[in-house]
Amino acid sequence: MSKFSLPESSPLLEPKFLFGVATSSFQIEGALDSRDRCIWDTFCEKDGAVIDKSNGSVACEHYERWEEDVELVESMGFKAYRLSISWPRVVKQDGSLNKAGITFYKNLLIKLQKSDIKAFVTLYHWDLPQHLEDKGGWLNRDTAYAFQYYTKAVVKEFQGLVYSYATLNEPFCSSYLGYEIGTHAPGITGRKYGRQAAHHLLLAHGLAMDVLSKHSPNTENGIVLNFTTAYAFSESDELAAERANQYFNHWYAKPLFDATYPEVIDDLDDQDKPIIKEGDFDIIAHPLDFLGVNYYTRTVYKDDNNGWFEEHPISKCERTDIGWEVYPDGLTKILTQLNERYNLPPIYITENGAAIHDNVKDGKVVDPRRIEYYNMHLNAVNVAIEKNVIIKGYFAWSLMDNFEWAEGYTQRFGIVYVDFETQVRTIKDSGYAFKQLLKSR
Ligand code: FCB
Repeated sequence: MSKFSLPESSPLLEPKFLFGVATSSFQIEGALDSRDRCIWDTFCEKDGAVIDKSNGSVACEHYERWEEDVELVESMGFKAYRLSISWPRVVKQDGSLNKAGITFYKNLLIKLQKSDIKAFVTLYHWDLPQHLEDKGGWLNRDTAYAFQYYTKAVVKEFQGLVYSYATLNEPFCSSYLGYEIGTHAPGITGRKYGRQAAHHLLLAHGLAMDVLSKHSPNTENGIVLNFTTAYAFSESDELAAERANQYFNHWYAKPLFDATYPEVIDDLDDQDKPIIKEGDFDIIAHPLDFLGVNYYTRTVYKDDNNGWFEEHPISKCERTDIGWEVYPDGLTKILTQLNERYNLPPIYITENGAAIHDNVKDGKVVDPRRIEYYNMHLNAVNVAIEKNVIIKGYFAWSLMDNFEWAEGYTQRFGIVYVDFETQVRTIKDSGYAFKQLLKSR
C-alpha cells in the first residue's frame, strides 16, 4: 500500500497540525421523517435535477449509525471531525426546537468529546428549510435574520461541546449554483438572483458571527469558502482570468476582509447588482477567528471578446472520475494569493479530496489514485506554509461515500467505502494511508 510522503521538516508532521475528516448533514444523515423538509428534498423530486434520480432520504443512515461512524474517525487517528447541522432538524417552522434533533447532535458531540476529537460544526451546508424557501429563500433578506435566530438557538444548546463554528459552507455554491445557474437547489436561474442570494448569505454570515462572538466566545468562529483557482489560457487572457477570479472566488472573500465587493461588480448591468443596504458591509466584515478553504480543482479562462470571460477546458490532463482536473499547484496559488490580498486569520483546509469509482474486493478497497491526489495536495499545503501562509489543519473530504448533490450516489469521495445496499462501511487504502501518517507523528 502506498503512503503519503512529506518533507521531514514539514509542519504537517507535527502533532499540533490538526487532521480531520468532513461530512455534511444532508449528504449522510437520511432520516427525513424526523425533521422538516429542506430545499434539497424538493429539488431531488424535480425531473432531471439529480443524475441518478436519487435523494437524501436514506443516504448513509448516519442518523442511526453515528456511533459506528465516530468510531471510524477515531480508529483512523483523526483528531477533528467537521460535520454540519441540519437547520430543519433543530428548528421547527414555528420557531420552537425539535427536541429529538437537538438530542441527536448532543449525543454525537458528547461522543466526539469523549473520543478526544474536536468538533468543527458548520451551521449551514445547503439544507435550507423548505418553508423559508417558500417565502423567497436566500432572495428574501429575512432569511438572513432567520439564520441568526437559528444560530443563537444552536449555540445555547451545544455550549462546551463544540471546538469551532463555521457559519456557512461555500456561499458560492448556494448562490451561484442554486440561484444563478440552477444546477443545485432550489434550481433558480438569473444573474440578478445569484448576486442577491450571495449578498443575503454574506449578511447571514455576518449576523451569525455577531451571535457567535457574543454567545460562544471560546470557540473558533469563521466561515468556509470554496476556491477554484483561475488560470489564464494565454497571456492575453490574464484580464479575463482575473475577472473570473473576482466573480467566482473573491466575490465571497473580499467583503469579509475589505468590506466591499471586487471591482468586477462594476462590469455588471445595474439590474443584476445586488441591493445593498447601508451598514451591510459593517455586519459582513466581522473579524474572523479562521478562514476555511475548500479546494478541489482549477479552471482555465479565455477572453470571450465581449468584455467577459469563458472557460477553456484543457483537453489533456489528469482528472478524477467526476471530471475535475488534478491540479495541486492551484491550491498553493490560491492560498498565497489570499494571503497577499487580505489581512487573513489562520486558515484551515476544510475540504479537499477526490472522486474515484471504487469497488470492494476481498474486503479491501485499493485506491492509489486517491492516495496520490491527497499526497500531492498535502505537499501543496506544505509549500503554502513555506510561503508564509498560516495553516492550522487539513480536513479530507470525505469521511465516507455519500450523496454527492446533483451527482447523486454516482461519485465516491470517501476514505471509507459505503455499500448503499447494506450500509456496510469499509476503510479504503487511502483511509489507512491517513492512519499511518497520523500514527507516525
Ligand atoms: C463541495 C461540497 C461538499 C462536497 C464536495 C465534493 O463543494 O462542500 O459537500 O459535495 O464539494
